[in-house]
Amino acid sequence: MTLIMLGPPGAGKGTQAAVLSEKLGIISVSTGHILRTAVKEQTPVGLEAKKYMDQGLLVPDETIIDIVKDFLAGCGAGKGCILDGVPRNIAQAEMLERLGVTIDAAILLNVGDKEIEDRMSGRRFCPKCGAGYHVKALPPKIEGICDVCGEGLAIREDDRPETVRRRLEVYHRETEPIIGFYASRGKLISIDGTASIEETTEKVVKALEMVQ
Ligand code: AP5
Repeated sequence: MTLIMLGPPGAGKGTQAAVLSEKLGIISVSTGHILRTAVKEQTPVGLEAKKYMDQGLLVPDETIIDIVKDFLAGCGAGKGCILDGVPRNIAQAEMLERLGVTIDAAILLNVGDKEIEDRMSGRRFCPKCGAGYHVKALPPKIEGICDVCGEGLAIREDDRPETVRRRLEVYHRETEPIIGFYASRGKLISIDGTASIEETTEKVVKALEMVQ
């Protein structure tokens, strides 16, 4: 199965992708995590991407295409994967089609802007393995420490309130049009993402049973 996670920043795409990856036994790849790792390691891609990410803007498509090609090669033929963070605009959705990626479902998590702004203030992440947490909705077992690898948790640079607002604007302008792109192909699954993490997973799994 190849799935796409869609929704505004902070809707829970990464959180649900991690749970679904476990449940379905397919790998999940996040362009955001790949880019944040590149920024941390100060690679040429990271140095270029940082300029855009810090402002809440999309990284140019030319940079993303190479990243996508790399991880698609790692997905393994026929095994499928969960794409978290790509496509981000119509050009990237068309690029996936040109690369021969067959999408089984695009899962849209609907959450309003106000709730997103509240959620982002409580988000924490592991800079080493990329695991995501929330101080209230998904706290780590030991405060400030990653359950998976023991690294100290951090706050994302782009979670500052003004950057979150910019990312929401970019989402509405550039990413939202791809909802229609997948709806017109009969691939869209639209889910209310405002319930708890567990309830949201249940809704997604139920909807996916209809696809399989
Ligand atoms: P990326 O990392 O993809 O960021 P995003 O899409 O903005 O999504 P987020 O990671 O912020 O949120 P999420 O929906 O995964 O939510 P999460 O599960 O963490 O991209 C970052 C940047 O990289 C972009 O701005 C861009 O610059 C660049 N980029 C990446 N891909 C690109 C591309 N293809 N093209 C161009 N540029 C690209 O949840 C959020 C918080 O809420 C967490 O703390 C979580 O624990 C909590 N939570 C989750 N679900 C619930 C719930 N149901 N109830 C309560 N809390 C919840």
